[in-house]
Amino acid sequence: MDIREVRRLFPATTGRAYFNTAAVGLASVRVADAYRSAIADWEASGFDFRIGEQAADDARSAVARLIGAAAADVALIPSVSAAAGLVAAQFDTAEPGANVVIGEREYSSNHFPWRQLAGKGYDVRQVPFRGGGLDAGDVGAHIDAGTRLVAFSAVQTATGHRCDIAAIGRSARAVGALVFVDGSQLVGALPVAPELEHVDVLVVPDHKFLLNAGRGMGYCYLSATAQERFTPINAGWKAGAVPLDSFFGPEMALSSTASRFDNSISWFAAIGNRAALSLFDELGAAAAYARNRDLAALLRTALDDAGWHPVELPASQRSTIVSVPLGRHEPAALLGELAERGIVAAARDGNLRLAVHVYNHEDDIERLRTALRGVAAP
Ligand SMILES: Cc1ncc(COP(=O)(O)O)c(C=O)c1O
Repeated sequence: MDIREVRRLFPATTGRAYFNTAAVGLASVRVADAYRSAIADWEASGFDFRIGEQAADDARSAVARLIGAAAADVALIPSVSAAAGLVAAQFDTAEPGANVVIGEREYSSNHFPWRQLAGKGYDVRQVPFRGGGLDAGDVGAHIDAGTRLVAFSAVQTATGHRCDIAAIGRSARAVGALVFVDGSQLVGALPVAPELEHVDVLVVPDHKFLLNAGRGMGYCYLSATAQERFTPINAGWKAGAVPLDSFFGPEMALSSTASRFDNSISWFAAIGNRAALSLFDELGAAAAYARNRDLAALLRTALDDAGWHPVELPASQRSTIVSVPLGRHEPAALLGELAERGIVAAARDGNLRLAVHVYNHEDDIERLRTALRGVAAP
């Protein structure tokens, strides 16, 4: 399929310039059809949950392909916060000097779970942001021999700042610390596979660039070290070697793969996820990433051209999110004005946040440029 044709699969792009995938992705007709057909079957003859289980496994494999991992290293999780909680729960009472290093303005799902480790005696070191995100050198300066974990977002939700995963990962691993990466704003938008070797835990929920906005499922890559060290504290039947044979004790045969960290999942979400993810295989992820890069570059230029200058980022730290400091603009009023012109965007942490994904076209960006030219620049 020609990448530009993808737009036709997303009816909400008609008459609308949608720049809000960083909040929730749009539904393709395939996802909507998958849900409709599951509901029709449920209504007509009852729900066959094994279909949901199969869909979840297919979705796991699809995400594994996207991130360059084996499916056996990916667990199914309900949310980023649940995965961070699973990891945080692995930490015993701190020995003297033990610390964790996190970002000061990180999204709460990758912030609150670590903050609570202070209660177990950890020094929770918050690295201030520089230029919209975490600078690898600043993170390195907070790491020492007592560091047990470094956690950060691959891409900052409010600014689009993309972290240097490899550099931070190397500094963390040099002292034996675990590397936890929230991939919510990266996976599905741009490649992460080349950096996966520097990561112990990579989490991503389904509702943004993976295109299942109904949400209900997420994915958690676990390195060999993480799998070996962690206890699957949420284990239930789904964590069994053969889930459908694992309903009762006294035996406990947990899976030998990362699926021993699986949570019971929403079968509907799994059906939606499989349909949503099939698009990446069909298009070829590389083609989607290339298109996303082009669109993001065009968006940046258009904003500059309209006098709405985006957060300045070096090329290596750009993503598919482009944010503009709002200055004196009141977020709700500006978003309302844009909405009247058929433009959907968001405001986050003092920025107008705009995100592109494969279903955007150049004319969306043109519509935005025209609209912003008519509004006083911040
Ligand atoms: C950076 C980031 N992390 C995580 C999430 C979601 O967290 P959770 O899955 O805990 O709801 C979001 C947005 O929904 C986000 O923007």
